Amino acid sequence: MPFPESFLEELAARNDIVDVVSGYVHLTRRSGSNQFGLCPFHSEKTPSFSVNPERQIYHCFGCGKGGGVINFIMEIENLSYPDAVQFLARRVGLEVPDDGHDENRGRRARMLELNRDAARFFHQQLVAPAGRAGQEYVARRGIVSMVKPFGLGFAPDAWNALTDAMTAKGYSRRELIDAGLARAGKNGGIYDYFRNRLMFPVIDVRGSVIGFSGRILGDGEPKYLNSPDTLVYSKSRSLFALNLAKKSKSGYILLAEGNIDVVSLHQAGFDSAVASLGTSLTADQTRLLARYTNEIVIAYDSDAAGKKAAQRAITLLQPLDMKVRVLQVPGAKDPDEFIQSNGSQAFRELIERSGNQIEYRLEQAASEYDLTTVEGRGGYLKDAAKLIASLPSSIDRELYGMRAAEKAGVSQGAFEGEVARIRKRNASNAHKQQTRDATAPLKAAQPQSRELRYDNVRSAVAEEGVINLLYRFPERFGDLPLSGGDFSSPALGKLFDALTERLRAGRGISLAVLGEAFSPEELSLLANIIAHDEIPPTAAGDAMSDYIRKIQDEKEKAAGQDDLRGYAERLKQKKGYGGKDG
Ligand code: CTP
Ligand code: MN
Repeated sequence: MPFPESFLEELAARNDIVDVVSGYVHLTRRSGSNQFGLCPFHSEKTPSFSVNPERQIYHCFGCGKGGGVINFIMEIENLSYPDAVQFLARRVGLEVPDDGHDENRGRRARMLELNRDAARFFHQQLVAPAGRAGQEYVARRGIVSMVKPFGLGFAPDAWNALTDAMTAKGYSRRELIDAGLARAGKNGGIYDYFRNRLMFPVIDVRGSVIGFSGRILGDGEPKYLNSPDTLVYSKSRSLFALNLAKKSKSGYILLAEGNIDVVSLHQAGFDSAVASLGTSLTADQTRLLARYTNEIVIAYDSDAAGKKAAQRAITLLQPLDMKVRVLQVPGAKDPDEFIQSNGSQAFRELIERSGNQIEYRLEQAASEYDLTTVEGRGGYLKDAAKLIASLPSSIDRELYGMRAAEKAGVSQGAFEGEVARIRKRNASNAHKQQTRDATAPLKAAQPQSRELRYDNVRSAVAEEGVINLLYRFPERFGDLPLSGGDFSSPALGKLFDALTERLRAGRGISLAVLGEAFSPEELSLLANIIAHDEIPPTAAGDAMSDYIRKIQDEKEKAAGQDDLRGYAERLKQKKGYGGKDG
């Protein structure tokens, strides 16, 4: 059931988009009526994410995401439309009118309940006599005291342990399968997905059990089995143990590879350890991290895969302006092993001594060249200068510059000159990009979403222009001699009709109230169109007539082509060629 429009208007009015977005994005630059910051939806170095307080929209000129305040919350908090409305209502203490039964919300709540019951079941199994194998494993890994705080459990070595227990509690087979806890068998039956494994519940920052990782006891493949993505679980947007790490007072978050490492780190007193859940670190996960800390200590495994993953993590974290340090655990394969053999004090010292990412990357660069040769030193100098040029702090640039210059065997002055040259080039590229963004024609590009692709881009440019001006100057263009049927793009036609209908009825056209009638992709497209204001108010009238003429011309052309095509068809049929049976 839709929310009443007056409620949505009120909700949008109280949740100013700049306020809401500022909770997630640092808005650093102003240009016209837009405020800019680094886009939270894709990785970038220069801000192309804009918020427009006047139009109450956000739009990223880089990745094309956009919409109103409700879309923003849907996207960034990973919520459904009604849940995002709920979220914003709670934010400003607004009562949500009863929206009847929202099916998805009910299903989500029920799945979370099932997950919690399953976690309880696994936990009981671990402490019960039947969980001997699990207990022994936990004891062998030295993490017994972590069983409770992590809610660790054991999935028995049986086909229907969990499914029987949960069906007895009233959960259906469908629900067990949907939650990723069971699989459908051949004869219409189901069987447990996790068997004979140490179970780690994945708990989100609100304390809900959203999924599970199951580790094999001892060796074997796969080492970890993870819940599939479900209605309540997205692996790429979750981090194991963030529910605990977010409470840490350490000031940084430790990023490890395996769940056992995380548990072992917590056991040793490093209560800010987290791990990604069987995917390599994703951009969504880095943004999640950025909400809780501005310093990351990477503590991956020492093997080649771990080193590569660390490089990747650094690259992903860099645009978020976070301090990143990379820990190397000498003589051990991972943090767990290091702590087991050297103790937690030694690990603490490792963290304290660990270089920051620049040091780490300079070392990596140095290791790629033979510094005893002139060519090697030249290659290193280039790489090092590029790295150092990207440092925002001039003090850091000087300090690291000194070291790198020495290593490359050149004078400090020469090295600084190289860094300055690169910085100048970077700045000029960024400037060019910005001017390009600002002077782009009213979009001739295709929409982000494939489904909305334009067949006739020339006409679509004009159609977008009409919508832009209509949205910006509704009092002037509320009554145009045009209808959505004249548009070449069905999506744009639909938007145009919705806007004019609402204006004629004297209703609002903010994205908050349009939200329910349009998909997020359609709203993204709309935000994209109305984020532009290249056409000044004084030129709007002329521009509008041009757009309308263009749309009508293109429509006539298309009709003419249809006629021709029809004529050719008829001709073919008459002469009997080209037909299937001809
Ligand atoms: N992994 C996974 N699913 C998880 C956690 C980790 O698939 N929920 C994968 C990681 O992608 C990585 C590997 O498992 O490739 C890391 O495991 P490792 O550190 O070897 O796991 P531990 O449990 O710490 O194992 P060990 O006792 O051997 O250190
Ligand atoms: Mn490990």
